[in-house]
Amino acid sequence: MGAAKALTAPEIMARKGGARLVMVTCYDATFARLIDAVDMDIVLVGDSLGMVVQGHDSTLPVTLDDVVYHTRCVARGLARTHLVADMPFLTYQVNDDEALRNAGRLVVDGGAHAVKLEGGERSAPAIRRIVDAGIPVMGHLGLTPQSVHQFGGFKVQGRGEAAAEQLLADARAIVDAGCYCMVLESIPAPLAARVTAEIPIPTIGIGASAHCDGQVLVLHDLLGLDDGFEPKFLKKYDRLSGRVRDALSVYSREVREGTFPDDAHSF
Ligand code: KIV
Repeated sequence: MGAAKALTAPEIMARKGGARLVMVTCYDATFARLIDAVDMDIVLVGDSLGMVVQGHDSTLPVTLDDVVYHTRCVARGLARTHLVADMPFLTYQVNDDEALRNAGRLVVDGGAHAVKLEGGERSAPAIRRIVDAGIPVMGHLGLTPQSVHQFGGFKVQGRGEAAAEQLLADARAIVDAGCYCMVLESIPAPLAARVTAEIPIPTIGIGASAHCDGQVLVLHDLLGLDDGFEPKFLKKYDRLSGRVRDALSVYSREVREGTFPDDAHSF
């Protein structure tokens, strides 16, 4: 029996209006194996790794080498899940040749099946260049975290008629540039519904309501690893932080008491 085949970009594109797409972020091989064992469609090595792995307060310090490294780790743990790597800040904005070279590294050195980058009309030429070279591109509109300083914080985007019209124009621009699907982050539900109805590729929402064709969450957020992070859009499917602390403190107590290792765990 051959290896399981990962879901492809054309297969994801064909899911428009069909079975909902499920996407989660991941940064290492151990979690990649767990994710690959369940019914997940897409894994994203997000530049959110700057916040949940590296401890920064934004995604801006993440480098291309960081994402290549984590993508390679995740790729080793996956067999059947479509793998997307995020393009970090300033790896696609400077010029389109650099954008293509950097996207190529994520695919060739990282093992990604596709790349994701932020922005609408202003990112369309870079998207076109990467797609023309044969690399599928996932778009990202709405609250694009690499523009956090321009937005003045992590705030809901697309509020008001002018902002909504601009977001729709951005969505059309990246569809025309060749994106196979797009993330919509932190936008009002009616706008997510409008974009999803008007564009021919799947939308994957985070803080963008159930009107999207799919959903994405950051792995550490959905597992509840950060007690202090409670945004409205987030559903925590577990509260692992408490369970991790409990396990570590039992281990620590048993070592101090001399009850670990016992005979059952000794040679
Ligand atoms: O970096 C990331 O994890 C993302 C998702 C939240 C979509 O861009």
